[in-house]
Amino acid sequence: MKIALLGGTGDQGFGLALRFCKAGMDVVIGSRSMERALEAAKNVRTELGNNVKVEGLLNEDAAKVADAVFLTVPLTGLIPTLKAIANNVKGKVVVSPVVPLEAEIGGTLRPIRLWSGSVAELVAERLKDSKVVAAFHNVSAEALSDLKKSVECDVIVCSDHEDAKQLVMQLAQKIDGVRALDGGPLSNSRFVEELTALLLFLNKKYFVKSSGVRFTGLGRE
Ligand SMILES: NC(=O)c1ccc[n+]([C@@H]2O[C@H](COP(=O)([O-])OP(=O)(O)OC[C@H]3O[C@@H](n4cnc5c(N)ncnc54)[C@H](OP(=O)(O)O)[C@@H]3O)[C@@H](O)[C@H]2O)c1
Repeated sequence: MKIALLGGTGDQGFGLALRFCKAGMDVVIGSRSMERALEAAKNVRTELGNNVKVEGLLNEDAAKVADAVFLTVPLTGLIPTLKAIANNVKGKVVVSPVVPLEAEIGGTLRPIRLWSGSVAELVAERLKDSKVVAAFHNVSAEALSDLKKSVECDVIVCSDHEDAKQLVMQLAQKIDGVRALDGGPLSNSRFVEELTALLLFLNKKYFVKSSGVRFTGLGRE
């Protein structure tokens, strides 16, 4: 199982790359620039040692060689990224952690309402032949990249493809401290995406960078 993190040169993708490599997974970091992809892969090896399975490739090539493809790019870069990879992700699991925030277009931390309902549903409309999964919206890059600490957060996973959802839940559970929760159909991803706006507000309010969520009363504590 090879995992591609497109835009894995940025905070969220790089944090996930670190955590998946630490868990022994086979990871490929994607970028629009080969140089930046190779540099990020080198930085993972610097953190975790030369034995980890990580490589750097252009986004479209990373999508081609991977089984599960994470869209760790900002909303503003999403459509061009989808266009670049569309032919290489047919039949594959595509994971969207993308949060639609007004801040992306120069506004505040309020969520943007999309006609599709959520970013993940927008991705599913565009990639009709892929199995789109929404996950990892509420885990901060800060928490992912601090390898000394476990990531204390629930990861809510939504998809209309049961097999893909189960796979991404298993991947999430490989990260220390993460509990994966079945969030139901992809249409529920709108709630999960919007929750991140509240977490960012809490970060500011409490002068922290890595607030997360824990759901109680599920009988799985
Ligand atoms: N940061 C967090 O704590 C966090 C938490 C939850 C969810 N998320 C979501 O995860 C995604 C990535 O977040 P991030 O903070 O890592 O973002 P970021 O650092 O702003 O960007 C990640 C990477 O995306 C690529 N990129 C930037 N602009 C692009 C464009 N116009 N077109 C194509 N690619 C572009 C860049 O890689 P190259 O230049 O190398 O191609 C960049 O390094 C976002 O959608 C965000 O909402 C982030």
